[in-house]
Amino acid sequence: MSYEKAVEAAEYIRSKYDREVKIALVLGSGLGAFGDDLENAVRIPYGEIPHFALSTVEGHAGQLVLGEIDGVPVAVQQGRFHYYEGYEMEQVIFPMRVFGRLGIEKVILTNAAGSVRTGFKPGNLMLIRDHLNLMGVNPLRGANDDRFGPRFPDMTEVYDKTLQEIAYDEARDIARERFESGVDKELTSFMWRGVYCALSGPTYETPAEIRMFRLLGAGAVGMSTVPEAIAARHQGMKVLGISCITNLAAGMSDEPINHQEVMETGTRVAGIFKELLRRVIAKMV
Ligand code: HPA
Repeated sequence: MSYEKAVEAAEYIRSKYDREVKIALVLGSGLGAFGDDLENAVRIPYGEIPHFALSTVEGHAGQLVLGEIDGVPVAVQQGRFHYYEGYEMEQVIFPMRVFGRLGIEKVILTNAAGSVRTGFKPGNLMLIRDHLNLMGVNPLRGANDDRFGPRFPDMTEVYDKTLQEIAYDEARDIARERFESGVDKELTSFMWRGVYCALSGPTYETPAEIRMFRLLGAGAVGMSTVPEAIAARHQGMKVLGISCITNLAAGMSDEPINHQEVMETGTRVAGIFKELLRRVIAKMV
């Protein structure tokens, strides 16, 4: 059922954009700006795409943008479907399945996340090297359709090592250039590596939970990305995951956490983030 729906959605998208696309991106809260920069872009509101859900959260435009970045065609999800919004996991991962049917081979998943480590500052980036799925559910639960992938997919290397090295090198170069030219004396754009811990939300965590996640090895916490990463790996796509640290996690500062702050930090680093994505995509093809 889901397979036929994904094929139908992919066919609709192909009817609107005829270049072959091999790379897709999902832009997290406050990070949607990259989608505005594509050349020869076609924008398709989610409501138009067969079987797509509509995204509801503030800061997510809810459209698929297809276009080129320095001549490389990409598909960009401006706005994603979160489990906390009430969607079924099947709806959350549906765009990944459509990407699979479009022939996409590599996906860049981005998100806004809270830092669990005192060294990871708001505005820093975290390269996801692995994840903890603490959402309480696995998106592949239920009957398996072998046309997507195997019943028991291996998760030893969810986040592709080669793509990680590309992203790390580019982020390091950007940070160095910005630091040396004096525009960024605090190394805002610095990239760390860490484990992304996914929770269902919509509440932010308690300080006790954050202490627990730190003990478990988490670097950052958030409410997305893991379902999409699992669905992408199920279909054999390569995944790159990048978190934008928007705030210190609960209990790590005197301030309560709010969505406004998350969005503002995302917007503050949007320029650096766009530059990073542009450079990484050029190296990915
Ligand atoms: N916790 C969970 N999700 C988040 C956070 C956080 O602190 N910041 C941005 N997304």
